[in-house]
Amino acid sequence: DRWHHFRENLLGWYRPERRPMPWKEHNDPYNIWLSEIILQQTRVEQGTAYYERFAATYPTVRDLARAPDDEVMKLWEGLGYYSRARNLLKAARMVVDQYDGDFPDTYVGLLKLPGVGPYTAAAIASFAFDRQVAVLDGNVYRVLSRYAGVATPTDSTAGKHQFSELATLALGEAPAARFNQAIMDFGALVCTPRKAACKVCPLAKACVALAENRVYDLPVKEKK
Ligand code: ADE
Repeated sequence: DRWHHFRENLLGWYRPERRPMPWKEHNDPYNIWLSEIILQQTRVEQGTAYYERFAATYPTVRDLARAPDDEVMKLWEGLGYYSRARNLLKAARMVVDQYDGDFPDTYVGLLKLPGVGPYTAAAIASFAFDRQVAVLDGNVYRVLSRYAGVATPTDSTAGKHQFSELATLALGEAPAARFNQAIMDFGALVCTPRKAACKVCPLAKACVALAENRVYDLPVKEKK
């Protein structure tokens, strides 16, 4: 069916080395969590250097948990959205104090950490713990809305539910970590907001938006 075609061709396209990112070298929850928090409102190009500095300064969650607040805030300078840095410290101390240094290993458990929302919980659960959960971020919304021709606003309640169901259908029984990394890279490199590479797209044959000439009408957002 069309979702089988989707995951087979997406996974066939995927090459980790096409978009080298230091956290791809890790599958432990601390490094994954750290990179995903930094990247929440920050582009990969800017966030990478911060990730490298944090990971070098605090090699483990215990090192981060015992760092002085002002030292961490100082290292965060330039990234903005400082509540992320405060939540970073809070979550690190929670993992050490309440979970004996081990991150929760389920999607629902991860959601309990301050600063960890649905996207980040799904990213950690799949990348670090091989849980069968699909990530949803801007790249994923774009790829799915175009492939399936779905114009429901991605920032509406109905849209969130609908796209979450589509993402789960798309993931199927594929290896979740690989699939999630593949679909994010695919959105960043092929199915881009403008000048999408439809001519060389491995999903073009079954893409509804391409067939109906709606690629640049999707995805739809409710609020501006
Ligand atoms: N943005 C945030 N996390 C990412 C990841 N793991 N891969 C690509 N882009 C990302």
